[in-house]
Amino acid sequence: MVSSYKIVNHQYDVLVIGAGGSGLRATLGCAELGLKTACITKVYPTRSHTVAAQGGIGAALGNMGDDNWEWHMYDTVKGSDWLGDQDAIEYLTSNAPQAVIELEHYGMPFTRTAEGKIYQRPFGGHIKQKGEGDPAMRACAAADRTGHALLHTLFQQSLKHKVNFFVEYFVIDLLKDNEGKCCGVIAWCLEDGSLHVFQSHITIIATGGYGKTFYSSTSAHICTGDGNAMALRSGLPLSDMEFIQFHPTGLYGIGVLITEGARGEGGYLTNKYGDKFMENYAPRVKDLASRDVVSRAITIEVNKGRGCGEEQDHVLLHLEHIDSQILHKRLPGVIEHAKIFTDIDASNQPIPVIPTVHYNMGGIPTNYRTEVLSPSINDKEKIYEGLLAIGEAACVSVHGANRLGTNSLIDLVVFGKRASITAKEKIKSYKSYSKIEKDYIDKIISRFDNLRNSKGENKVGKIRLKMQKIMQKHCGVFRNKETLSKGIEKINDVFDMFNDVSITDKSTIFNTDLVEALELDNLIAQSKVTLASAINRNESRGAHAREDFPNRDDDKWLVHSLTWLREDGNTEFNTRPVHLNTLTNHTQSIPPKKRVY
Ligand code: FUM
Repeated sequence: MVSSYKIVNHQYDVLVIGAGGSGLRATLGCAELGLKTACITKVYPTRSHTVAAQGGIGAALGNMGDDNWEWHMYDTVKGSDWLGDQDAIEYLTSNAPQAVIELEHYGMPFTRTAEGKIYQRPFGGHIKQKGEGDPAMRACAAADRTGHALLHTLFQQSLKHKVNFFVEYFVIDLLKDNEGKCCGVIAWCLEDGSLHVFQSHITIIATGGYGKTFYSSTSAHICTGDGNAMALRSGLPLSDMEFIQFHPTGLYGIGVLITEGARGEGGYLTNKYGDKFMENYAPRVKDLASRDVVSRAITIEVNKGRGCGEEQDHVLLHLEHIDSQILHKRLPGVIEHAKIFTDIDASNQPIPVIPTVHYNMGGIPTNYRTEVLSPSINDKEKIYEGLLAIGEAACVSVHGANRLGTNSLIDLVVFGKRASITAKEKIKSYKSYSKIEKDYIDKIISRFDNLRNSKGENKVGKIRLKMQKIMQKHCGVFRNKETLSKGIEKINDVFDMFNDVSITDKSTIFNTDLVEALELDNLIAQSKVTLASAINRNESRGAHAREDFPNRDDDKWLVHSLTWLREDGNTEFNTRPVHLNTLTNHTQSIPPKKRVY
């Protein structure tokens, strides 16, 4: 019964949903700008998934050889297979050096060079002189625990600014006023079971990616893309959801990330014959090609029977030739993970690896100011008032069809900060809090209440496993119409299964059965949208490799996809132009050409 819930009301200038790298940077930025800010998070901030980021944060500091932001911009546009918006990419790369210096000043413990500068290592797809030179040393690193260092730094700074954190609050849905403006959220406090209506002028979604739609991923269990699903339920589309990044080096059988920094430090891959096969796929930069290229190469090697091990289903990553002292200093996490999970001493033996789902290029469409877009037929850049989105939840789009390693962490802090600036600018025109209709609130609470009281046949874990296996099989590194159609059919069954879900715990306090059901509902929505976007895009670009459409088709498909999910479970598809223009006249746009590494 909706009326039986205790409701607590709050009012803030800004709500930030999520306390990973982007959420904390936005929260800190808003607090620094004097905005009354609350950060709502389902886990304790330092448990957010940013903590798992390893190899580095990309910025052309030039500490270890020539570099400049225009080379970084070029690499990012090329890495995106020209699907990235160039105005946003210019904003990202030109602001990156300052953003890293800011982190340094906030106290982030970077690894240092002998002269005391921030240490930088090479990473896939980062190359000097607009793709013509040697690999660029651009990944600013704190050993191979860069995300950990970043997250703790930002959290400590936020505490210094006395930000209001609502920890272990699960946001159920976004609120909308009569004009269709986002005006806050409803959240469930896991500790005491109360429901909370948070009113705000600006809401910032920073809820991360949805890696847990797949069976094997480097994502934590919390990566359920809750904000993306809330956007869908608010009637917004998600953009470019077909682009799922497989990281080439997930630990075989486990999925744990083995950082690309390992190849940045000189590691290389071999097949069962000991061939350094990347020489055949990316003759210039070899193991330091972009992730989509390396993941496809590994998959081809395995599919052609050249994989390693009894089942010939993985390849080997070699670090044994690297000085053991350097290995232990620069890649302690890799050494530790290999030992703990596979009992391998990486300084003596190669590590078995396999491409594993790692990142979602798609998400909530925004412009470079982080304003959420609600594209219509007549206005593809239409802004959805009151709502901003950042980080992996957002599709700005700076990563286009394929993200370069290290560009995620820099995206978090550059656009996290940008969101706070945009919030401050927009708030000037919002005088009072919007009125929210009681019916709207009741509808959201009813969904929560119905789910809590579900007495169906299917356990959450069973439905989730089915969804993950379907996505893994039907939406992998290579796709075609047949596998995707079957995937859509099967996910529709999963959608129906969820209508018959069973929740055995009916309590409201730390009810993890219900939390997982809410998360699963969110994941299923994103699985549907991902498959629908993938079957519609009849070309191969970046991470979307269609066996039946092997070429990139700029005439028809140099566009962002947009997919809506209707209440009955049907999807709708449309597109939006890619911004091929730059933001300023400080640089020139980069016209599409064939992508070769
Ligand atoms: O390989 C890695 O360290 C991952 C970095 C990233 O995804 O940016």
